Amino acid sequence: MAILVTGGAGYIGTHTCVELLNNGEEIIVVDNLSNSKKEALNRVRLITGKDFKFYQINISDRKSLTNVFEENDIEAVIHFAGLKAVGESVVVPLRYYDNNLTGTIRLCEVMREFGVKKLVFSSSATVYGQTEQMPIKEDATLSATNPYGRTKQMIEEMLLDLYASDPSWSIALLRYFNPIGAHGSGLIGEDPNGIPNNLLPYISQVAVGKIRQLHIFGNDYPTGDGTGVRDYIHVTDLANGHLRALEFVRSSTVVEPFNLGTGQGYSVLEVVQAFEKATGKHIPYRVVERRPGDAAVCYANPKKSLKQLAWQAKKNMEQMCVDTWRWQQHNPNGYESKQLV
Ligand code: NAD
Ligand code: UD1
Repeated sequence: MAILVTGGAGYIGTHTCVELLNNGEEIIVVDNLSNSKKEALNRVRLITGKDFKFYQINISDRKSLTNVFEENDIEAVIHFAGLKAVGESVVVPLRYYDNNLTGTIRLCEVMREFGVKKLVFSSSATVYGQTEQMPIKEDATLSATNPYGRTKQMIEEMLLDLYASDPSWSIALLRYFNPIGAHGSGLIGEDPNGIPNNLLPYISQVAVGKIRQLHIFGNDYPTGDGTGVRDYIHVTDLANGHLRALEFVRSSTVVEPFNLGTGQGYSVLEVVQAFEKATGKHIPYRVVERRPGDAAVCYANPKKSLKQLAWQAKKNMEQMCVDTWRWQQHNPNGYESKQLV
């Protein structure tokens, strides 16, 4: 039986596909390539030496999705497909609600029709909003502060309702903190469109000479050095969290949220220093105004994942920086770069 991976051509999806295939799982990938490239899947095949089926479909399209379930024997679904840019979600909220909510509703309907009730869902630490409680535990109040975050919070609530209506479902709600890094091969990594919004892709484009300098969004936060603190997690550790969550949904019938983070916070300046040390590249920066909506501090209490999923992050900040840089150096134009490592 196969694991259906929605959004499997994306950043976290590709890394999870590699870990699934290396672990002997059969996978089927669906993705509409709205924020990814087919080449990413070729690289997954290259890294693992394994093949798998790919359907270029929108998961909101019931007919196409039904066809995937008809043609394959699907045991469980890992659901990454979604739009994820916070700023864009403020500008075009309906697009986000439509894509993320409708897509998940269609997916669950088709899963139910085919009796597939094991689901691992990509949620986000963004559902915690501006909580004061640090480190954040899963039982913190949810209060997303932007349309993207609200789609995640609404989907979580919808999945809780689905489970309440039919407790034969088994659902893991994975709340990721800040995924960074890339596969150690340098063949897959994060490939944002245009100017990156997130810190590490921005720093690595400064390092490779595509952007002149980093803008640090505020140094007057109530933190050690005044810059924002986040819980950065290596994408391969995150991918492995999905394998543990898959085992969890296979062996239980519950719906549970889990934090996937390291439990350790790094400030923006600490990340810049770690990147410079790990790569030998100088990162020029300028401190600018705070970015609206940014929290001062955000890091996980990951104990529940350790206890119930037997999972914890293993890779440190140095490895995250080295791997980010290897990917960026070998693929200065992401998957459009001609040269393979
Ligand atoms: P990504 O954009 O790289 O991957 C998402 C993939 O889903 C893309 O390949 C995109 O083409 C596809 N997709 C989007 N809508 C689709 C649809 N309707 N039908 C089919 N395919 C569709 O993003 P990512 O960083 O890999 O994130 C994966 C998931 O994790 C997303 O749901 C995201 O919201 C969530 N998440 C990401 C982060 C992060 O920092 N990257 C943090 C927290 C949560
Ligand atoms: C952002 C999203 C969050 C999403 C996460 C992962 C916002 C408000 N939040 O989180 O919903 O789940 O990405 O995709 O967009 N920084 C700079 N300069 C930059 C970029 C970032 O100083 O050019 C700082 C930020 O102020 C923050 C830290 O670096 O303190 C991390 O930022 P980022 O990588 O964008 O992640 P988050 O803001 O935590």
